[in-house]
Amino acid sequence: MPAVNDLKFSAYTDVTDPRRAPDQLPAWQRLLSLANELKQVSTRDLFAADPTRTSDFCVQDQHLVLDLSRQRMDRRVLAALLDWAQENQLDQGRDMLFGGSQLNFTEARAAWHTGVRNPASLPAALAGEVNETMARARVLAQALRSGALRGTHGEPFRRVVNIGIGGSDLGPRLVTEALTGTTHEEVFDVRFVAGPDPAEMAAALEGADAASTFFILSSKSFGTAETLANAHCARQWLRDQLGDDCDLTLHFAATSNATQAAQAFGVAPERIFSVPEWVGGRFSLWSAIGLPIMIALGPHNFERLLDGARAMDHHFQSAPFATNLPALLALTGIWNSSLLGIQTLAALPYSYHLRTFPAWLQQLEMESNGKQCRYDGQTVTAPTSPIIWGGVEPNGQHAFHQLFYQGTHTLSLDFIVPVGPADPWHDALVHNAIAQAAALMEGRSLEQARHSLQQQGLAEAQIEALAPHLVCNGNHPSTMLMMPEVTAFTLGQLLALYEHKIFVQGWLWGINSFDQFGVELGKKMALKIAGADASEQDAATRAQLERVAQMRAHFYRHED
Ligand code: F6P
Repeated sequence: MPAVNDLKFSAYTDVTDPRRAPDQLPAWQRLLSLANELKQVSTRDLFAADPTRTSDFCVQDQHLVLDLSRQRMDRRVLAALLDWAQENQLDQGRDMLFGGSQLNFTEARAAWHTGVRNPASLPAALAGEVNETMARARVLAQALRSGALRGTHGEPFRRVVNIGIGGSDLGPRLVTEALTGTTHEEVFDVRFVAGPDPAEMAAALEGADAASTFFILSSKSFGTAETLANAHCARQWLRDQLGDDCDLTLHFAATSNATQAAQAFGVAPERIFSVPEWVGGRFSLWSAIGLPIMIALGPHNFERLLDGARAMDHHFQSAPFATNLPALLALTGIWNSSLLGIQTLAALPYSYHLRTFPAWLQQLEMESNGKQCRYDGQTVTAPTSPIIWGGVEPNGQHAFHQLFYQGTHTLSLDFIVPVGPADPWHDALVHNAIAQAAALMEGRSLEQARHSLQQQGLAEAQIEALAPHLVCNGNHPSTMLMMPEVTAFTLGQLLALYEHKIFVQGWLWGINSFDQFGVELGKKMALKIAGADASEQDAATRAQLERVAQMRAHFYRHED
């Protein structure tokens, strides 16, 4: 990515946004006053006042059902949110997304991840490039899976290690983990290494035989420090194991658009797969960055994943916003974060298959919408992305849910529930999810606490002492997203749903969801510390570096 100084500002100042600032639109004023009112309201009362909200706040597209009935909003709120979206020209923004406009206006680039999963929607020249790259990726994946591709000693490969970080890791890792065990296709052994801690590489290589190990260097830029460090480590390991005279090019592929850098590292040109500049890293799993998915699960599953995502694209493009899953999920998030002031969103998949979903969503949402500068250079006047966190359930119920019930925060929650067949295991998952959503809405009042203690036959003094400790405030808004099961298709739908949610929110807040200058500052600081000119460092940094040196001198002095 270019440094700020290298940006072609003239390119993006042409893309001036003609919209009025989002907080100057008439519906926003209505939303502010509704938020003041609803901050005091209990969702229980909303159900009492509007019994059909269970069906009317629920929308479906193919296999996904989005239930917003436990959100702290009523029909007036929903109508005002939809009016605001219209005043904010969401339909125009959506056309710009699918049409390849330069929505990433600070870097003068499109955000055309929908095009890479649907090349037919691209101009012919771009479609040709995407099709050619993906066809080569499929051939490589099949050759690896079938054993036709061989290493330097003529052995077929038995393990693939993907080296990449952020968007070049989380998407392929999530999909590979999620679909392993859900498909009839044979699953090829693919491991993932993201961070530069040697322990991570050692874990990925445990039991591996160098002669049958293949590495994919996944880095759009081929300039990410962690990925390059791991790439060098992999090459050294192969050399150490196989000898200096072996042909290491047979053991590497790269997914990158920095072709020259990849070749200079030693990747054969025919094994370099480009990732278009107009596909952002965190939106790139549909591109050649998805090569590990193709290898692990087979090109057929990859295609079904794309089918699911394309189905969501079609829904997002064609459904009216009032019944449009991404638009509704996004508007609900804005209501919670910007208007009710709820600053965290817990992503809670009730499926081991989706255990990496919260981490993937963290990057997608927080790297995209963790911003405060609007397109007009002004600072936003309401909070943008909440803090995303979460974990696989019901494990969290026995860990962090206590804070949900009796802590001092109000949280918003996304329950993601693959229903599964009617067996005791899936019943346990589904019932737990629904019970948590219900209990976190209902809570337990002081009166109810007293009543339950009375029923246990406690003395009045004990009841008075104990009852306050049993109170749970409840009223945490939640969304329930159900699907029959995790398949390549439903997973594609789910991931594209959240991608579009992020786009809708960024557009409506008026921020650029597709750059990440904050991350770039963090990267620069890391390099500066590595270069260590003490006079340029702040006092705390200097002191911490000194402590590192002391600790090393103390603990590692007996080495050699
Ligand atoms: O550091 C953040 C980031 O730029 C992400 O946006 C991206 O997904 C990741 O690094 C990896 O980048 P690359 O694919 O260029 O190595």
